[in-house]
Amino acid sequence: MRPTTGQFPATRFRRLRKSDALRRLAQENTLSVNDLIWPVFVRDGVNVAEPITSMPGVSRLSIDRLVKAAEDAAALGIPAICLFPYTDPDLRTETCEEAWNPENLANRAIRAIKSAVPQIAVMTDVALDPYNANGHDGLVRDGIILNDETIEALVKMSLAQAEAGADILGPSDMMDGRIGAMRQALEMSGYQNVAIMSYAAKYASAFYGPFRDAVGAGSRLVGDKKTYQMNPANSDEALRLIERDLSEGADAVMVKPGMPYLDICRRAKDTFGAPTYAYQVSGEYAMLMAAAQNGWIDGDKAMMESMMAFRRAGCDGVLSYFAPRVAKLLNDQT
Ligand code: PBG
Repeated sequence: MRPTTGQFPATRFRRLRKSDALRRLAQENTLSVNDLIWPVFVRDGVNVAEPITSMPGVSRLSIDRLVKAAEDAAALGIPAICLFPYTDPDLRTETCEEAWNPENLANRAIRAIKSAVPQIAVMTDVALDPYNANGHDGLVRDGIILNDETIEALVKMSLAQAEAGADILGPSDMMDGRIGAMRQALEMSGYQNVAIMSYAAKYASAFYGPFRDAVGAGSRLVGDKKTYQMNPANSDEALRLIERDLSEGADAVMVKPGMPYLDICRRAKDTFGAPTYAYQVSGEYAMLMAAAQNGWIDGDKAMMESMMAFRRAGCDGVLSYFAPRVAKLLNDQT
């Protein structure tokens, strides 16, 4: 039962805001390093960190540098890192077979991290766009993004990632039925303990632009992703997708993008109570960084406020390019 709020002056909300001590005491939500997943970009080469212009402070890392970054993340207490490969243009084809090559960049990166920093959880991306000549998440025939054929490819990709040692698979492709197919294949192949975090409510968003530069898919993309990603005008549909993915065997669900979709996070958490995550995507990162670099906002404060907003909206955690910076600030505070 919700108590009725009293009348002024019996009720003065400012009493509990009077000092830092009282504000801390009355604080409803908290943020910790345990709530962070760090998305990182991987590329070929040795000792390379190639800056991504549209994401200031973020670089594509060669595997040796990635391992070092994973060590730093683990030392900061970040529980998970999420890998996105920049595939050599020569290996991008219409059939996308590089996606399930056991020796592809992502799979080599998983093995390298799991052998050097076993305590950090490795999450992957399951979608064909970094391997596809046309930049789409699925196989394309005559301009149509094929659902069922794509699922077969995603299952092969998932098994290769599980074999390489991935802890969490992150299907970001939005094909229908992929969670069930992946879960069944994992169960049958001895990977019962590989988790799936489904990008269940993923919108066809303009906020992915910098990411597509980062993985080299943007310039290749033919058309848009509206036949598989969600319409930003929809909310009930997100709940149906989440329900479907949980019933097919997803262990956790994600809402993406993050900040413009906090209402979806809240509805998802309230409705299902499942482990719920938001992805603060590349365009959100770019906006905050650009404003901060211009001196228009305080970058650290805006970053921390955005993190707390995800927690307040019901998220158990956040995928964010800010993860190490957030972790450093949190560690400094304690
Ligand atoms: C594609 C994928 C995208 C992101 C993660 N996985 C982009 C897209 O759907 O086009 C976006 C992440 C970001 O913008 O930070 N499989």
